[in-house]
Amino acid sequence: MSRVPLIAGNWKMHKTIAEAEALIQALLPRVSAADGVDVAICPPFTTLQAMVDSARGSRVAVWAQNMHQAQEGAFTGEVSAPMLSELDVAGVLLGHSERRELFGETDRALAQKVPAAFAAGLLPVLCVGETEDERERGDTERKLRHQVQEDLARIDPGQLGDVVIAYEPIWAIGTGQTATVEQAQEAIAFVRALVADRSPQAAERTRILYGGSVKPDSAAELLGMPDIDGALVGGASLDAEAMAAIVAAAIP
Ligand code: 13P
Repeated sequence: MSRVPLIAGNWKMHKTIAEAEALIQALLPRVSAADGVDVAICPPFTTLQAMVDSARGSRVAVWAQNMHQAQEGAFTGEVSAPMLSELDVAGVLLGHSERRELFGETDRALAQKVPAAFAAGLLPVLCVGETEDERERGDTERKLRHQVQEDLARIDPGQLGDVVIAYEPIWAIGTGQTATVEQAQEAIAFVRALVADRSPQAAERTRILYGGSVKPDSAAELLGMPDIDGALVGGASLDAEAMAAIVAAAIP
């Protein structure tokens, strides 16, 4: 089964509304002819409404970078899945390593966030990945198994294929140090095998992205690997030209 390639830009904590507007206006014409590629941006919360309005009718989907697992409640500073879907946001990053490392995001919360996203009609994009220490100790597979199994535990096999997973080795994020294509392929094939343990059909459908210092000149080789269905792009997604070049590399 062929999976539609997916390129997502994680803008992290960058861009005011005015800056985001300039970036999306530069991006839209540059990706409008990328037939056969799904494109998404993950801008900050404060720009979501403006980005949804600007992207309407284009191939660019707008995702959030985080959400709380509860529908509502006394959780100061948090945003819920229904609040995002009310804005016509299409998806949400969950468990990004920066959320896990800097803000105490737990697998226990993620096991609730993934179904909460689905329940609100959002595409959950679960991020997983090992630290440099874990890779050096030979613990990469153990870490990935733990994250995939625990974070997706409440998703039934019929829905598992709709989850997007992003494999982002933490040592490759923002460091300029991309995993080799072989390392990325091997880890992503392992993640797909973990999904297949639950449902072989889901494993065929689930799109699994690579993230970590993806740049225009590394994209084509990564995207050419059999199990790598797309990219989650940080720094390079803040440049419309670079993001469009990565999208172009994904055209089937
Ligand atoms: P960089 O592409 O800047 O390494 O960031 C990757 C990332 O964290 C995307 O979510």
